[in-house]
Amino acid sequence: MNQHETPLFTGLKKHRDRKPVQFHIPGHKGGKGMDEEFRSFIGDQSLSIDLINIEPLDDLHHPQGMIKQAQDLAAEAFGADYTFFSVQGTSGAIMTMIMSVCHPGDKIIVPRNVHKSVTTAIIFSGAKPVFIHPELDDRFGISHGITSEAVQKACEAHPDAKGLLVINPTYFGVSADLKKIVNIAHRFDIPVLVDEAHGVHIHFHERLPLSAMQAGADMAATSVHKLGGSLTQSSVLNLREGLVSHERVQSILSMLHTTSTSYLLLASLDAARRHLAIHGRELMEETLRLADHARRRLNEIPGIYCPGSEILTSDATVDFDPTKLIISVKKLGLSGYDVEVWLREKANIEVELSDLYNILCIVTPGDREEDIDELVTALDKLSKEYSDKEETENIRVKVPDIPVLALSPREAFYSSTETILLKEAVGRISAEFVMVYPPGIPIFIPGEIITRENIDYIHDNVEAGLPVQGPEDDTLETIQVIREQRAFK
Ligand SMILES: Cc1ncc(COP(=O)(O)O)c(C=O)c1O
Repeated sequence: MNQHETPLFTGLKKHRDRKPVQFHIPGHKGGKGMDEEFRSFIGDQSLSIDLINIEPLDDLHHPQGMIKQAQDLAAEAFGADYTFFSVQGTSGAIMTMIMSVCHPGDKIIVPRNVHKSVTTAIIFSGAKPVFIHPELDDRFGISHGITSEAVQKACEAHPDAKGLLVINPTYFGVSADLKKIVNIAHRFDIPVLVDEAHGVHIHFHERLPLSAMQAGADMAATSVHKLGGSLTQSSVLNLREGLVSHERVQSILSMLHTTSTSYLLLASLDAARRHLAIHGRELMEETLRLADHARRRLNEIPGIYCPGSEILTSDATVDFDPTKLIISVKKLGLSGYDVEVWLREKANIEVELSDLYNILCIVTPGDREEDIDELVTALDKLSKEYSDKEETENIRVKVPDIPVLALSPREAFYSSTETILLKEAVGRISAEFVMVYPPGIPIFIPGEIITRENIDYIHDNVEAGLPVQGPEDDTLETIQVIREQRAFK
C-alpha cells in the first residue's frame, strides 16, 4: 500500500474530468443549479466533486472499489485491521460501536461522564449501563478518566458485560492507563470501545498518549475532523478484529448512515489520512513545540496557570496531550465563562470551551506563532485589568453515589411521565437527565431512582452557584418522573 495515494479523492477528480452529462442527483449539477452567491463562495472545484454513489465512485454501504481502498489505507495508517469512514461524525461511530456489541438487556460498563451519543446508543440498543465514576480533579474542577482498579472491580462484578467504553484521551487531553485497562477487560473477554473523539493525532507522535489501536483496544471512534484536518462531521471507526466482527460493524454502520453520503466529506478523510500518515510526526513535533512555548509564556502571566504533566497524579491520569492548553483563571477572580466572553469581545479570540475555573485552547497544525502571541498578549492584558480581584473561591467538586437503575434508559425513554415537585420526588424514577457543571457528570439519568441525598446535592450545588442543568424546568422546582401504574381495586 502506498500512503501517498488518495484513491477516493483522485477517483472523484478523474470522474469529474470526464465531464459526464449528469441526469442524477445532486440537482445542483456541479453548482449550475444553485444560488449564485453560495456557488461562487463555495467554488466550482468543491461542487464538482459533490457527487453520489454512482459508478465508479463506490458506495460507503458496500465498499468494494475506491472507498474500500481509501479505508484500507486508513486502516494501515491507524494500525487497525479495518477502518470504516463515518459521515455521521464520531457520534455515528460511537453509536455503531455500542450497537455492534449490545443487544437489548445486555450490560455495558461506561464512565459516568460520557458524551450524549453513548446515552443515545444505550437507548437505541436497549442496553443496561453499569456506571463507573471517573476520577475528579479538585484543582481544576474537571473529571478525568477511570482507574484500572475501578475497571477490575466492574469486570469482576459484571463478567457478563458485553463491552467497556473508555474515553481516551479526555477532552482536556488526559489519558488513563489504557493498555492496562484493555488487558483487564480482555481477561473477561469484554471488548474495549474507545471514544477517541479528541485523539486522532496521538497515534502519530511518541510524546503523545497511546492511541486506542496501539493499546490493543477492539474499536475506536476517532474524530478526524476535530484534530486531524478533515471536514467537519467526518470521522473514522477503527477495528481490531477478534472479539467483534467487521461484518457486524459494517451492517450497523450502514443502518445508522444516510444513503446520501457526502463525497466531499469522504474525500476529505482520504486526504487527511494521507497528510497524517506522511507528515503526522513532523506536524505534531511542530505543534508540540508551539504548545510547549505557549504553556511557558502563559505560566509567566500573574494569575494564569496552565498545567503540564504535573496534572498526572494517579492511575486515572498516566499520560497527557500537551497540545491541550487548560488555562485556569480562578486566581484572577474570574470564571472561565467570563474569560471566554472577555476574549471574544476584547480580543476577537474564540476558545474551545470554558467552565467555572478554566478555558481550554487547543493547538493544532493549523496554528502559527502569531496565533500564540495573540492569545498570550490578550491574557496578559486581562491579568493586568483584574490584578486587584480576589481569587475565586474553590468549591470542592464532589459527586453523590450513583443511584440505582430501576428501568433501562430505553424503558424510561418510552414510558409515560408526569411532572412533580423535585422536593417530593424521593423514591420516584427520573425521566430526565440532571447534570452539574463542573464536572459535567449526571446526578440522575432516565431510569434511575431519585434519592434524598441526590436532591440535597442538587440544592447544595445551586446554592454554591454551580450550574445544574438538564431538566425541562430550569428553575429545578419540578422534575419529570415515570408515571406510576395504579393497581385496580
Ligand atoms: C468526548 C466526545 N465524544 C464524542 C463526541 C462526538 O463527536 P462528533 O461531534 O464528531 O459527533 C464529542 C464531541 O464533542 C466528544 O467531546
